[in-house]
Amino acid sequence: MLKIIGTGRAVPDFIADNAFFERLVDTSDEWIVSRTGIKTRHILTEGSLTELAFKAAKNALDNANIKPNDLDLIICSSLQGDYITPSLACCVKSKIKATCPAFDINAACAGFIYSLNVAAGLIKSEIYNNVLIISAERLSKFVDYTDRSTCVLFGDGAGAAVVTEGNALRYINVGTEEGIELLFANSGLPQNCFTKKREQGFITMNGPEIFKFATQTVLSAIKDVGKRLSIKADDIKWFLLHQANGRIIDTIRKTLKQPQEKFPENHSKFGNTSAASIPMLMDELNREGKFKKGDLLFLSAFGGGLTKGSCVITWDK
Ligand code: ACO
Repeated sequence: MLKIIGTGRAVPDFIADNAFFERLVDTSDEWIVSRTGIKTRHILTEGSLTELAFKAAKNALDNANIKPNDLDLIICSSLQGDYITPSLACCVKSKIKATCPAFDINAACAGFIYSLNVAAGLIKSEIYNNVLIISAERLSKFVDYTDRSTCVLFGDGAGAAVVTEGNALRYINVGTEEGIELLFANSGLPQNCFTKKREQGFITMNGPEIFKFATQTVLSAIKDVGKRLSIKADDIKWFLLHQANGRIIDTIRKTLKQPQEKFPENHSKFGNTSAASIPMLMDELNREGKFKKGDLLFLSAFGGGLTKGSCVITWDK
């Protein structure tokens, strides 16, 4: 169906450490680190999400050694681009000077895996060959910086991957669960054309329920992989999980009785970057030369919707 031939990432320059939040709300470095593992996050204070997504895309294209003209499709996943229209994918397409179709999808934190699923279907149907996937998020736009229970968690960033025809995707499964009220942010725009009353527009989350949903999602995906591919957690070399927070990842790791080094993380530096977290992490490991040809990667994400998605990919670059 597909294989990954290039990865890229980009984060904004401004870094907010935990002391930054101690000045904003009633919190402490100790609380944030012990509950989430997050130490810093990057926030887009200047420039656009398009520029950030463009940088990640450019890095992925260079890494794949292909030109924008070789692309058949661009898929962006994001909670929201810079505009309601044009889409973020069209904005990036224009900036990299590609000529292919481009569209956005929104599957919250599971957006990268949803995008892989869409790309896999289109490549398998021989509709497109080279697909650029970008997951770019500006969560700072939706964060209420007076709400200590959410503002410390999120960061901005972009991750990208170029995929093409190949046999590396061994398993992919995306889905949804009930629970739209557990994690949401409305648009912040007036919904009523006459009153023009603005909605609040901030992220609202039931943390403990999302924690349960996250751990159950990943653990049941691992079980399903075991059934369908006859492989065990021990056979997987890298667990690239959505980087919501360290405690979720640690709970999963301990349940699976796996060593820490198989669970790389970037939430301590970048916070929860929603759909961008997995491709950003994948790019870091790729550039550090950590992946070896034939390594089995398990990717799993969960998010507002509630969306979920998991896949197993053989590293074949
Ligand atoms: N600093 C200090 N105290 C805080 C903070 C803070 N930043 N945030 C909350 N608290 C307080 C609460 O007010 C509460 O105080 P109270 O007992 O006096 O009412 C206390 O800490 C415990 O609150 P809980 O929400 O129960 O804290 P919990 O231990 O569950 O940790 C957390 C909160 C980290 C959000 C946890 O629920 C969690 O990890 N949830 C998973 C959800 C997640 O990570 N979501 C990320 C986005 S969603 C996604 O990516 C899919």
